[in-house]
Amino acid sequence: MSIERTYAMVKPDGVRRGLVGEIISRLEKKGFKILALKQMVISKELAEKHYGEHQGKPFFDGLVNFITSGPVVAIAIEGEAAISSWRTMMGATRPWDAAPGTIRSDFATTVDENVSHGSDSVESAARELGLFFPEL
Ligand code: RTP
Ligand code: MG
Repeated sequence: MSIERTYAMVKPDGVRRGLVGEIISRLEKKGFKILALKQMVISKELAEKHYGEHQGKPFFDGLVNFITSGPVVAIAIEGEAAISSWRTMMGATRPWDAAPGTIRSDFATTVDENVSHGSDSVESAARELGLFFPEL
């Protein structure tokens, strides 16, 4: 495998529930390098771009409302196979399917508010990092 960069994010529910430290701690303990990190409120326009692949799906409007409902913590990370590795650490989208010990298994019960985000491919990682950290 090769060194990759990916986009990780603590979603508004994770920030509201005080899970930022927990999630950053897991990233650090894993050994990823944190390239950039910021707390921000996502605009509707940025949310619609970020989740553009889901436009037209029944959950799209709710997803945009949720992701803009409060601050998120946006994080750019780097490491060996970082894209799939971070997705594995987060666990399945639906928390009841997430493996024990993953973030979504440990901290979430609903699919709508599942605490963290991670890019799902090389292409989405490049696209999402460009949206949130154009300076990188
Ligand atoms: P994310 O992009 O947020 O990291 O989540 P993901 O890759 O695991 O899942 P994705 O398919 O990209 O879906 C994005 C978010 O939309 C919500 N969702 N709801 N009700 C539903 O069937 C449904 N499916 C997806 C989830 O909040 C998911 O994280
Ligand atoms: Mg996704």
